[in-house]
Amino acid sequence: MYHQKQIVTGLVIFVLLLTFPFWFSLGQASYESPDPKLPEGEEQCIEPTQWMRANHMELLNQWRDMSVRQDKPVYVNSAGRKMEISLQKTCMDCHTNQAEFCTVCHDTAAVSPYCWTCHIAPEEVSNGQ
Ligand code: HEC
Ligand code: HEC
Ligand code: HEC
Repeated sequence: MYHQKQIVTGLVIFVLLLTFPFWFSLGQASYESPDPKLPEGEEQCIEPTQWMRANHMELLNQWRDMSVRQDKPVYVNSAGRKMEISLQKTCMDCHTNQAEFCTVCHDTAAVSPYCWTCHIAPEEVSNGQ
């Protein structure tokens, strides 16, 4: 009872400080993203933009499994549109500049997907990220 408010406030501050590195880096990944060069002449990604931003890695994993392990060459998006499962032919058909789209963002987030050692980036502008 006595000083209860102060104790609760103290606890809240303590928890915030303790988890600071976690939410600080979360903020960096999602809000301080640079300005990736978006495709010209296209308005939409294959799924809603926010969802793509957060989930494109899982989607690519899923695509690889579907294509390579399950022999399923077609993806049906949430709007019911069918497309070929291909990093090179589908994603990079719109996102033609890998360096200024994928890599610009990944540099900020400090991730380096190793995909381009095997997959060919458009016009071979790959720099290994
Ligand atoms: C060691 C070489 C290698 C690396 C590294 C690699 N892949 Fe692949 N990937 C392949 C091969 C080989 C296939 C099968 C190609 C085919 O079926 O025509 C494939 C197929 C795929 C497919 C489905 C088919 C297609 O053409 O897109 C996706 C999606 C994919 N990989 C995504 C990725 C992603 C994302 C990364 C990085 C995280 C990655 N791959 C890294 C070799 C690689
Ligand atoms: C039909 C063209 C098209 C295809 C195919 C496509 N995209 Fe996109 N993508 C876009 C457009 C246009 C935007 C920006 C949409 C907007 O401004 O809201 C976008 C946005 C994104 C974003 C979010 C960018 C940001 O600023 O947050 C990511 C990540 C992304 N795409 C990755 C991919 C990946 C990975 C694939 C393949 C699995 C793919 N896209 C396939 C056109 C495409
Ligand atoms: C809006 C910024 C943004 C754009 C644009 C973007 N990415 Fe990413 N990507 C990220 C972030 C952030 C992560 C790390 C997420 C995490 O660690 O959970 C990531 C992770 C990945 C991973 C998993 C790597 C790993 O080590 O876990 C792959 C594969 C990937 N992105 C592929 C792509 C491809 C291919 C493109 C271009 C078509 C692209 N990304 C465009 C922000 C972006």
